[in-house]
Amino acid sequence: MDVRPLLLVLPVLGLSWASTLDLDYGGVPLWINRFLGEPSVFSLRGRMDSSWYRAVNSQSCPLECDCPIQWPSALYCDQRGLHSLPSSLPARTQYLFLQDNSISGLQADAFTNVTRLRWLFLDRNQLLSDQALATLLSNLTRLENLFMNHNNLTEVPSGLPPGLRQLRLAHNHIGQISPGVFKNLHNLTLLLLQGNRLKTIREGAFTGLPSINLLDLSNNLLEEFPKHLPPSVQQLYLSENSISGLSQDCLKGFQSLRYLRLSHNQLQNPGLAPGAFNLSSLVELDLSYNQLTSTPVVPTTLLYLYLEANLIQEFNVSSFCSTVGPRDYSHMRILRLDGNRMASHQLPADWVMCLRVLHHLFI
Ligand SMILES: *[C@@H]1O[C@H](CO)[C@@H](O)[C@H](O)[C@H]1NC(C)=O
Ligand SMILES: *[C@@H]1O[C@H](CO)[C@@H](O)[C@H](O)[C@H]1NC(C)=O
Ligand SMILES: *[C@@H]1O[C@H](CO)[C@@H](O)[C@H](O)[C@H]1NC(C)=O
Ligand SMILES: *[C@@H]1O[C@H](CO)[C@@H](O)[C@H](O)[C@H]1NC(C)=O
Ligand SMILES: *[C@@H]1O[C@H](CO)[C@@H](O)[C@H](O)[C@H]1NC(C)=O
Ligand SMILES: *[C@@H]1O[C@H](CO)[C@@H](O)[C@H](O)[C@H]1NC(C)=O
Repeated sequence: MDVRPLLLVLPVLGLSWASTLDLDYGGVPLWINRFLGEPSVFSLRGRMDSSWYRAVNSQSCPLECDCPIQWPSALYCDQRGLHSLPSSLPARTQYLFLQDNSISGLQADAFTNVTRLRWLFLDRNQLLSDQALATLLSNLTRLENLFMNHNNLTEVPSGLPPGLRQLRLAHNHIGQISPGVFKNLHNLTLLLLQGNRLKTIREGAFTGLPSINLLDLSNNLLEEFPKHLPPSVQQLYLSENSISGLSQDCLKGFQSLRYLRLSHNQLQNPGLAPGAFNLSSLVELDLSYNQLTSTPVVPTTLLYLYLEANLIQEFNVSSFCSTVGPRDYSHMRILRLDGNRMASHQLPADWVMCLRVLHHLFI
């Protein structure tokens, strides 16, 4: 086997795709992604003339908002400088766009007439945590998607409606999660909490999330790998914290964990137990931008391992294969080791037998 084609020298790749946002402000107006059932247009600003909507649409529409004719269940009130909710929201509203305003609190009767709300967009306002918000939300029994990124919340609102499927609370000021606050959310699959002030995760904080797929706790103040995470999580993001090690049983019980991101932490080899990543469900492991000095032991079933920008000086084949044989080999497809203290000529001779299905090696 000729190894040369595998050796690519690409020092910094990925900065461009890393910054792609999941917000889609492009595309055809009012088009709903049929596959995800999600609206693809979060704002009509700059797309259509407000007065045109008002002139041609006979349905009632709050003065502060735009009501598209083609999509009567949507109400666009984003980017209006609003300090409170428009009054008389039409009862037909199921998609309410209120992002990019200055709303800090909601009046007690704000949602009395919009009990059919399924999507509520409140990103980039100044919402504060208070009981009124909790009470209002608990009455929205049909709500499935709640966007409250970039607000001033200091806690997760209690009384969240039990039908929620996604809850986005990234970039708030949340310092702790009260036990049981998610306990009724049996359908929640996505929970964003990155960019908050979480230092520890208390016992019971995530109980009652049997369907959770993606949990993002990146960019918080965690100093240890948190205990008490929901065991059904498949994508766990813990990048940009201050985690220095992982114990032997950190990942015990995570039967479905596939993607684990721990980049930009303070991981060091002494703190990393040899069996910490011994989890055969893992597909992708991101340990880039840490302080590792040697390659950690990973399961042979792992497909993608990112170790770039560490302090790695030695490549230890036993990290990837404890034994090598016809059926004992690493299934790794992509291995990134660039930005370390190692050069390709330092690779031990036997690595090819172990990493025999590798597509790309960056070194
Ligand atoms: C709810 O609808 C009723 C009847 O249309 C109206 O009188 C009331 O002002 C509405 N309340 C709000 C908060 O929009
Ligand atoms: C919540 O719903 C209950 C029952 O439907 C109703 O009596 C109450 O006024 C609602 N509260 C708010 C704040 O809308
Ligand atoms: C929300 O936080 C920002 C800073 O993050 C601050 O400028 C603003 O005054 C806060 N708003 C409220 C209502 O507290
Ligand atoms: C959860 O989802 C299922 C299937 O889509 C649905 O039947 C059920 O009513 C939902 N649960 C709640 C509390 O909305
Ligand atoms: C990895 O886990 C399996 C069971 O899940 C166990 O049998 C094995 O001893 C573990 N290996 C290490 C190195 O901890
Ligand atoms: C490679 O790692 C194994 C355990 O994972 C260790 O026993 C061995 O000493 C390491 N080899 C070198 C050369 O550091």
